[in-house]
Amino acid sequence: SESVETGLSPLSPSPVILTQDELKKIAAYKAVEYVESGMVIGLGTGSTAKHAVDRIGELLRQGKLKNIIGIPTSKKTHEQALSLGIPLSDLDSYPNIDLAIDGADEVDPHLNLVKGRGGSLLREKMIEGACKKFVVIVDETKMVKYIGGSGLAMPVEIVPFCWKFTAKRLQELFGYAGCVAKLRTKGSNGKESGGEPFVTDNGNYIVDLYFKRDMGDLKAASDAILRLAGVVEHGMFLDMATTVIVAGELGVTIKNK
Ligand code: 5RP
Repeated sequence: SESVETGLSPLSPSPVILTQDELKKIAAYKAVEYVESGMVIGLGTGSTAKHAVDRIGELLRQGKLKNIIGIPTSKKTHEQALSLGIPLSDLDSYPNIDLAIDGADEVDPHLNLVKGRGGSLLREKMIEGACKKFVVIVDETKMVKYIGGSGLAMPVEIVPFCWKFTAKRLQELFGYAGCVAKLRTKGSNGKESGGEPFVTDNGNYIVDLYFKRDMGDLKAASDAILRLAGVVEHGMFLDMATTVIVAGELGVTIKNK
């Protein structure tokens, strides 16, 4: 189902052109409306999720939310949430999470996602896979016709051992879709290669896959990637999002699975 809230949010009472960051904030604040006192909340990573974590911290401070436990999806979010005084725990202690809120790099018409440009895909997938509700927050630039369609990276976390071998295997797997595999380097955020490898929170590397064409059957693609020894996890989040909140110039669209 899909509902559209036209008219601009209270954050932007007049029809001005909003920046991408303002749109991210609108989506994030809308998602935090789903948070209730007493919930265990998966806290996402990235510039959009950061707004949601800030907002949860603010509502806790104001006493409007109580007894929240946050499960952070990265070291960075862990630090942010700590600095805001949000009580934190982990999946070992809370294997059933009520709700997670996180951004995404791509959202397709079936609400499949690409995540991990920030490099936190493994912890995100573990935590968001353990949630009753997974609310994704994006600005409208993240909507794509098909996964890989933005021309930006689809990240795969791999072990550092013989990474070139694994990167080559990944590229070969998707030769039919014109795939190019590049090791992510520090500071490159998937845009450059060369230089020191980017290292994930789990001590692994990331290979970014770029597709010239639609890779087709996503489930088959996912299975093939995960069958490769050396691969830890990939950034396609298939059939995981329960709600996607899209903020655009004309308002907020809420898409439910
Ligand atoms: C991090 C992620 C992020 O959610 C994704 O990259 C979107 O980031 P941003 O909100 O900064 O655009 O998956 O691993």
